[in-house]
Amino acid sequence: MTKGNIMKVGIIGAGTMGNGIAQVFAVAGYNVVMQDIGTVQTERGISMIGKSLGKLVEKGKLSSDERDAALARLQTTTVLEQAATDADLVVEAVFEDLQVKRDTFQRLDAAAPPHAILASNTSSISITEIAAATKRPAQVIGMHFFNPVPLMSLVEIIRGIATSDETYKVIEETAKAVGKVPVEVNDYPGFISNRVLMPMINEAVFCLMEGVASKEAIDTVMKLGMNHPMGPLTLADYIGLDVCLNILEVLHSGLGDPKYRPCPLLRKMVQAGYLGRKSGRGFYEYSANA
Ligand code: CAA
Repeated sequence: MTKGNIMKVGIIGAGTMGNGIAQVFAVAGYNVVMQDIGTVQTERGISMIGKSLGKLVEKGKLSSDERDAALARLQTTTVLEQAATDADLVVEAVFEDLQVKRDTFQRLDAAAPPHAILASNTSSISITEIAAATKRPAQVIGMHFFNPVPLMSLVEIIRGIATSDETYKVIEETAKAVGKVPVEVNDYPGFISNRVLMPMINEAVFCLMEGVASKEAIDTVMKLGMNHPMGPLTLADYIGLDVCLNILEVLHSGLGDPKYRPCPLLRKMVQAGYLGRKSGRGFYEYSANA
């Protein structure tokens, strides 16, 4: 085996994060099997990867041969176990629900070879708790990528209470091998990224709710005053307002501090189905192609 002993990688989930993660592994030379529950999902995932690789070729960041080689290294399946069989590493990117993650990890644990590392792309669920659903907690770790995965340099690597030093080392090397900068984090609610990001987004929603300023003004201040690429309300729409609310709830209940109380306006928008870009409406409105 090469690259820190990882050659074959299973990716569970072909959604925005799953297909982005599958893409960066395939481009870096790993053999990838991407799994989702149906062919509609896997085909959509492959189509998103094709579009993203196309943009990278257009910009000269990738040659067309490299694109074709990456696509040739990508396989899909609708059977979870098939993505784990013979895998050296499995990265799970299914939706953020503890029970779903625990069930997924139990099945992966049964199907993956004993040496395989099982990683979760969770943005807020406890790695320690996910690992406890397996018989190999020392080989369970968080590998938290950022959207859009092909463009964002960071991977937060989260060590659960039982994660071994060896597992950490292999994943740190693997993150570097896929062109990312790894940052080591211990397993506490929200890790670093969302512990810092979500209170900022929440405060921006409080500013809007309290009439401090318009949404455009709030975003402009953070873009031009702090050089953020997107204002916090635009970013919340990009991440998904339901995802933001869910992470704030994890912070609020996990840390028990009222400072993480989700803004009632954020809650109301999620109740209305205004989930951001993916539903066509959040703080802003989006056309189908946006
Ligand atoms: N693959 C390849 N290229 C892509 C791409 C992808 N997936 N997504 C966008 N691009 C390209 C665009 O096509 C565009 O190309 P052109 O310059 O040729 O038009 C280029 O990247 C720049 O995109 P845009 O013009 O649309 O806009 P931008 O300059 O604002 O850049 C952005 C987009 C990189 C997303 C930037 O706005 C940004 O960095 N935003 C912040 C993103 C962020 O904070 N992400 C983290 C979210 S939190 C998270 O993921 C984790 C969590 O736990 C919640």
